[in-house]
Amino acid sequence: MGLEMGSERYGAKQIAELLLTADIYNRKESLTEDDLPPKIRKHYFDVETKSVKRPIYVTSSDVQKIYGIENVKATIKDLSFVAYEEFGSQLRLTVFDVAAKWFANQKDMAAIRSNPTLAFFYENYDSMNVSYAEAKNGNRPLYSDREWIDARIKEICKDQKEAEDLLKLAYIRAPEDIRDSISDLVLTDEQKVEIEKTGKALQNREYLQQIGLYEIGKLLFIGPPGTGKTSTARALSSWFSLPMVEVRLSMITSQYLGETSKNIDKVFDLAKRLSPCILLIDEFDFVAKTRTSDEHGAIKRAVNTLLKAIDEISLVEHGVLLLAATNHPQLLDYAAWRRFDKVLNFPLPDAEMRRRILDKVLSLIDADVDTYELAELTDGYSGSDLRLVVREAVLNALLEDRRKLSQDDLLSSIEEFGRRISEYKGSIAT
Ligand SMILES: Nc1ncnc2c1ncn2[C@@H]1O[C@H](COP(=O)(O)OP(=O)(O)O)[C@@H](O)[C@H]1O
Ligand SMILES: [Mg+2]
Repeated sequence: MGLEMGSERYGAKQIAELLLTADIYNRKESLTEDDLPPKIRKHYFDVETKSVKRPIYVTSSDVQKIYGIENVKATIKDLSFVAYEEFGSQLRLTVFDVAAKWFANQKDMAAIRSNPTLAFFYENYDSMNVSYAEAKNGNRPLYSDREWIDARIKEICKDQKEAEDLLKLAYIRAPEDIRDSISDLVLTDEQKVEIEKTGKALQNREYLQQIGLYEIGKLLFIGPPGTGKTSTARALSSWFSLPMVEVRLSMITSQYLGETSKNIDKVFDLAKRLSPCILLIDEFDFVAKTRTSDEHGAIKRAVNTLLKAIDEISLVEHGVLLLAATNHPQLLDYAAWRRFDKVLNFPLPDAEMRRRILDKVLSLIDADVDTYELAELTDGYSGSDLRLVVREAVLNALLEDRRKLSQDDLLSSIEEFGRRISEYKGSIAT
């Protein structure tokens, strides 16, 4: 019983938040979709107009879908300021001021600070310590919602078939769908600085345009396999809350060769419309391979289309951050190199970085180990190799029904890994 009452109280707060948010948003024209918390915004997003149309109505089915509250009528029983109209199952505020006061008395500052529309209202309310600017800054903007991205794809493709073809050439992800995170990566100082500069460039696009500085926002990540190039590119999507368009270069050689140039243009067009966003071209050395050995000439044409498209896209002008990555920079010719404003190195990690990578990978694992020693023993290992070493140690321990790792577990895993590497190197040498 106590529990139920507790959850009803919790639900009541959410319903009040939704009704207040709807009311304030409906009245204040200067508030935009970016002022709505993603949960509410996604629910009311209208694909046709790509906006949240005014007025927002709240029905019991909206409340159910947004918050999973089943028994809406029981939940609002004690809220004197909420009226429920059986016809249309609509909820509305009877007296706004009473509702606003009730909500303020709940003292749920976290709810207000994560809802710019509420923060806008409460900023000037009694002695509430809320900043609209801060709330807005912390709120994910509309362009990072999956719903917004899907609406954009729909807009540039005539029909389902065209959209499917486009999605064969590019993966498109919303920041919320991306698992890679900057906090899981150990970055070099150069990488950190470059990420920071990129963030500043994204924030100051207008200024950069004013001063005519366009040579910015095309980065080439180079380094051996497994040094975090792909993970970093993807992690930047969630770090900057930007949608990610990931070009699948290998698809250029697919059966739709005749259409490829058109589709490349379409991918870049999509990136511009999703702007601001990140456009990632992974395994960029593919470009080089096809330039030297092409029987058809069609691949060459597709690659030229790609290079031209890269030339014509700009962070400052279009809001598209272009990232390319390659394990084989030596394969790229000058024509490919010169397209980038900055080449960012992803070196094999030194001992200090290896130790920090091991610490991160082991952070959720019950392990009694000396990562200084392990780092010393893994010279030449990439971040990806270190993950594999830990994975093997975990699996070997599980074979013995253990979840706790010892130093010996990791040492034997390193030995096993080292042996496999030298066997592999032996086999390609012969
Ligand atoms: N510097 C690093 N810090 C933490 N993890 C790393 C690092 N470098 C690589 N990894 C891990 O290794 C795996 C492979 O990395 P990935 O980004 O695919 O490498 P690349 O694209 O350079 O070949 C990922 O799980 C990644 O998290
Ligand atoms: Mg990669």
